[in-house]
Amino acid sequence: MFKKLAAFVFGASLISSAAAAFGLTTSGSSFIVDTDGGLVFTVNSSNGDVTSMKFNGIEARALFLRSHIGSGIGASCSWVRTGNDNNYIKITCTAGSLTQYYVARYKDPAIHMATYITAEPSVGELRFIARLSRSAVPNGHPNAAIVGGTAIEGSDVFKVGSQTRSKFYSSRQFIDDQVHGVTGSGVGVFMIIPGTGYESSSGGPFMRDINNQGGDVQELYYCEFCLLSLNSGHTQTESYRMGLHGPYALWFTSGATPSGSIDTAFWSGLGVNGFVPTTSRGRVTGKASGIPSGFASFQSVGFSNGAAQYWARTDSSGSFTSPYMKPGTYTMTLYKVELAVASQSVSVSAGGVATSNIASKEANPAVIWQIGDFDGTPRGFLNADMIEWMHPSDSRMHGWGPITFTVGSAISGFPMAIFKTIGPVTVRFTLTSAQGGARTLQIGTTLAFAGGRPQVVINGWTGPAPAAPSQPDSRGVTRGTWRGNNNMYTVNIPSGVLTTGSTVNVLTINVISGSSGDMFLSPNFVFDALRLY
Ligand SMILES: *[C@@H]1O[C@H](CO)[C@@H](O)[C@H](O)[C@H]1NC(C)=O
Repeated sequence: MFKKLAAFVFGASLISSAAAAFGLTTSGSSFIVDTDGGLVFTVNSSNGDVTSMKFNGIEARALFLRSHIGSGIGASCSWVRTGNDNNYIKITCTAGSLTQYYVARYKDPAIHMATYITAEPSVGELRFIARLSRSAVPNGHPNAAIVGGTAIEGSDVFKVGSQTRSKFYSSRQFIDDQVHGVTGSGVGVFMIIPGTGYESSSGGPFMRDINNQGGDVQELYYCEFCLLSLNSGHTQTESYRMGLHGPYALWFTSGATPSGSIDTAFWSGLGVNGFVPTTSRGRVTGKASGIPSGFASFQSVGFSNGAAQYWARTDSSGSFTSPYMKPGTYTMTLYKVELAVASQSVSVSAGGVATSNIASKEANPAVIWQIGDFDGTPRGFLNADMIEWMHPSDSRMHGWGPITFTVGSAISGFPMAIFKTIGPVTVRFTLTSAQGGARTLQIGTTLAFAGGRPQVVINGWTGPAPAAPSQPDSRGVTRGTWRGNNNMYTVNIPSGVLTTGSTVNVLTINVISGSSGDMFLSPNFVFDALRLY
């Protein structure tokens, strides 16, 4: 009896010395977790809020405000110490169809998280917002620093001094957004979305979503359906996905940016709803071809179905390997920068590696002239280099027109977008006698607002009025994005309209729409490129 007890006590002390301070204590409704990695955090088990995050003694949360999903989930929480050598503490907070997991892993200065939903959350936007102390972590994204600002559009675009600022201007495309954070003296707080952390999100690889808003409270976001939410109605290009969102992690450092490639394999041992381990996943490998060599470094492959989405950049030779994907049949899309140029179906099985080569089907007519690249972006055009980080009214922007552009001049003089109340863009060009006759004009667009679409007038001839495009029902380019649905408008110009020789052809492109609005909230669209052939 005595020996047994001694052996038990000895064993227990071994475990506790291996994991010195790691553990969870309760105080009233608070679950206080010491990660033994410098971070101690507290979850209110009565509502699911994270009420304290102390890193090396620095309290990073904001006073009076808590970090939570959406506007707070009102969950009730339970906890368990589990996993390999009891090195994990899992807190499970459930509210109806939503479950939020908070996991502490021995020695990680992090709150590992995942969010499981079986229905569109009643909280509206699905996002985890860490509401952090501005004094602890004052340094966020400079274009999202709104302190002292005046709202100039909605309640979310501000003017601070002479500059426009918004949480929207902190966004990055998902394909490039694995780590984002805020810092202060002796502490940095980073949101890490590793590997397949966006698999249950929506909008594809080029979707951009909010990362930060630096107000009186420093807000750090993991947005799953922020811009995608029906309630906020922001550039939603596809349906929501249910299931497990993440895993993701709120990671603390003494200021340096952490690596985005954190281990998430441990989640498989934690009994979490919807987690699919790597061993139950498959991959797709192959080679993309047919994209012009100038774009070889900007091609990627996307995969999507109703349950998941993934992407992979190709190498410069076109070879790619997907992330580990959930089994299923996917639509696989080849992107030239952000323009879909081929799609096909591919099936993924658990443990399998499917080979699926894909070739661009992009039409490549011999053009008389072209303005910009057909790549699903307005890059190169006037103001395109600034639109992601500021409002079109910002004084740093170049004037929006109406602009007259002569074919052959630098495309940085061609506007990236036109707005109904600001006016059309006029394009001037001459043609040789061999280039006259019936021709085709194509106008590619990447996003439109309030039903805006192009109607042309050429030398007094009025082209057809296209139908309203299928586009997200939301503000667009004023929120720092050009990512909507790519649309191509084709105008068949009859013989007799174009002139040849020294007489200049005058092409006017107007925004038409049944809707109206003021200035930058008037109907508008974003140009991808134009060509005449
Ligand atoms: C915990 O949540 C409950 C329910 O929302 C609330 O009444 C209580 O004040 C909270 N406690 C703390 C310490 O935040």
